[in-house]
Amino acid sequence: MTREAGNGHTAGDTPRVVLGVSGGIAAYKACELLRRLTESGHDVTVVPTDSALHFVGEATWSALSGNPVSTRVWDDVHEVPHVRIGQHADLVVVAPATADLLARAAHGLADDLLTNTLLTARCPVVFAPAMHTEMWEHAATQENVATLRRRGAVVIEPAVGRLTGVDTGKGRLPDPAEIFEVCRRVMARGTLPRDLEGRHVVVSAGGTREPLDPVRYLGNRSSGKQGYALARTAVARGARVTLVAANTALADPAGADVVPVGTAAQLREAVLKAAGDADVVVMAAAVADFRPAAYAAAKIKKKDDEEPPPLALARNTDILAELSADRPRPGQLVVGFAAETDDVLAHGRAKLARKGCDLLVVNEVGENTAFGREDNEAVVLGADGSETAVPFGPKEALADTVWDLVAARLPGRAERNSTDRG
Ligand SMILES: Cc1cc2nc3c(=O)[nH]c(=O)nc-3n(C[C@H](O)[C@H](O)[C@H](O)COP(=O)(O)O)c2cc1C
Repeated sequence: MTREAGNGHTAGDTPRVVLGVSGGIAAYKACELLRRLTESGHDVTVVPTDSALHFVGEATWSALSGNPVSTRVWDDVHEVPHVRIGQHADLVVVAPATADLLARAAHGLADDLLTNTLLTARCPVVFAPAMHTEMWEHAATQENVATLRRRGAVVIEPAVGRLTGVDTGKGRLPDPAEIFEVCRRVMARGTLPRDLEGRHVVVSAGGTREPLDPVRYLGNRSSGKQGYALARTAVARGARVTLVAANTALADPAGADVVPVGTAAQLREAVLKAAGDADVVVMAAAVADFRPAAYAAAKIKKKDDEEPPPLALARNTDILAELSADRPRPGQLVVGFAAETDDVLAHGRAKLARKGCDLLVVNEVGENTAFGREDNEAVVLGADGSETAVPFGPKEALADTVWDLVAARLPGRAERNSTDRG
């Protein structure tokens, strides 16, 4: 089917995105999201609210999108825009979404072009809320968010950081590049169910560093990219995500609560804390098995006339085995990763049996394999005897396979509630 794009070009199969912008201070950041959407080949119609135009004017939206811009249902009435824009959209993303916009959307109001569009759209809808912490935490806002999520919308958790004034807290609009990533993934999933909706998932990522003295540590080569791919894909599937990130240099995924940690002990504490109400814990981080037995408070000096000091190691707690044996929440699923350099499957099967987790993602690692790369290849072993081979491809594809296997194993909601009570 060929469609005529609003900018006069023939759109063909160009995906159509509606970018709703409501009246928050972060409206200017939506310009970058708009740029990313148009530059990646989307036909974008910007639908601001009247309040949004106090922050960024119509000319900017129109020039950047190449499409006409209106806030009202009364412009170009012969084209019935209050119905047409939503009906023709492949994705609606509202960024920033104000407390007011969330309330109007949750209650089905249709008092401007954006809320009309939200009612007529049958495509996936993403809201990226941004507001002061008090507004976000207010019971009214939280109930509106829960309503929108229950109806199938992806509502991205706001980031923590500097807000409008001098204050900081939760309520900041996530990085536009990361909102774009959520949009891309949500569009790729299309009308597939948000099978992690209402679930809390905890993902650990990166590699721990075990300090030897104030300047040296024992570390590993994990970049955190696989864990971040798991976090990003889980957000797009509707989950509430806690990402425990050990020494990573990656942008915070939009919608994930990121807990930065350094050592294995800190990672253990953060994971156990978050796991208390989690449906699933995925241990993708490379956690050090050993740490230096002693920490030197001052830098260890080289002495020309002496042998190097011996390095004594102490064992770290095996977090994966601990979580698997003593689940912080009944019915919780635990997923581990095994990075092996040789005889990968045999080591993986032995590790699955030893750790007692539900799924184990086994992959081969080495200096030029997996670590720091965008691609990965793995076999996911199940405690039930299943074996799922994931061919070489983006880490995000492996992440989606893990979530497919997790979603199929999660207890149903009724079952879960009775387990909770029990
Ligand atoms: C300077 C300024 C900044 C604001 N920032 C936000 C914000 O970040 N989030 C929010 O929910 N409301 C914010 N507001 C309040 C909204 O603009 C107000 O609730 C408005 O009615 C929202 O209308 P809309 O949802 O139709 O865009 C701000 C108001 C002002 C004056």
